[in-house]
Amino acid sequence: MSAADAPREPAAGSAGTGADGAGAGVPKPLAVIAGASSGIGAAAARKLAAEGFHVHVAARRAEPLRELADAIGGSCTVADLSSEADAQRLAADVAQLGRAPKLAIYAAGVLEPTQIAGHPLDVWERTIAVNLTGGFLFARELLPLLTAGSRIVFTSSVSARKGARGLAAYSASKSGLDRFAEALQAEHERDGIGVHVLALGPVATPMLDRPGVSPFQLDADEVADVIAYLATLPPGVVMRDLQIRAATKGPFARDAARAEAP
Ligand SMILES: NC(=O)c1ccc[n+]([C@@H]2O[C@H](COP(=O)([O-])OP(=O)(O)OC[C@H]3O[C@@H](n4cnc5c(N)ncnc54)[C@H](OP(=O)(O)O)[C@@H]3O)[C@@H](O)[C@H]2O)c1
Repeated sequence: MSAADAPREPAAGSAGTGADGAGAGVPKPLAVIAGASSGIGAAAARKLAAEGFHVHVAARRAEPLRELADAIGGSCTVADLSSEADAQRLAADVAQLGRAPKLAIYAAGVLEPTQIAGHPLDVWERTIAVNLTGGFLFARELLPLLTAGSRIVFTSSVSARKGARGLAAYSASKSGLDRFAEALQAEHERDGIGVHVLALGPVATPMLDRPGVSPFQLDADEVADVIAYLATLPPGVVMRDLQIRAATKGPFARDAARAEAP
């Protein structure tokens, strides 16, 4: 591990412990978020830090990741989560923080809309590698650090249950992720590990920053609120599959004008 990629802890005096006063000296609960350099992962990092978590973030782009870690008083590992070695390095960095993650969130993902006719193999392989294999590596490497009451969260998609034009690789990867998560729950519910799969509808993040997508989009902060809520569940509550989308009808529907507003 290079020094630049070593876990970066908050400054002495606030090193992952409670705020000044009664909580001082008590370790903060730990959240680990893969795919936190933008979008949902970054929003979840900010939300959980505000809720009193020490947040360890990971993604490939060093600059936004380190800026986020500094802003929230967290720590980070620059890592490509489709790489087994990087997933192992992330887990080693998390182990150095010296406490079991309360939340382990796999929010890394890629979406490259492509028709099946002439679909480049590298786009297929990259999508499966990040969205599916990365989720498996993240869970496998962090499992030894989790304890009863820990929860693993995967950002899946409504596309996991409905193949759509241009989304063959994405849908297949998320469908595989859903079944992987089901197997993970089958193997580790007995250890008190919770598994959550967020079947998300469209969310306004850089991933959807292109023409032709639904105007009915959640904000990343709203998904972050759901993730923070999961941390508040009693440990005996099992809630694997959550379908989460923006309202499309009624007083809370988002219309095109709202979606396009600055
Ligand atoms: N936005 C939506 O409408 C929507 C809907 C359903 C599900 N989702 C899912 O929600 C998750 C978050 O997506 P988002 O909307 O927040 O998109 P985003 O803003 O593009 O964020 C994707 C994140 O994944 C990271 N990532 C990509 N490849 C990676 C790799 N090989 N290793 C480590 N990190 C990697 C990116 O960081 P780097 O580029 O720095 O590595 C980035 O932080 C994804 O799993 C996505 O499939 C999104």
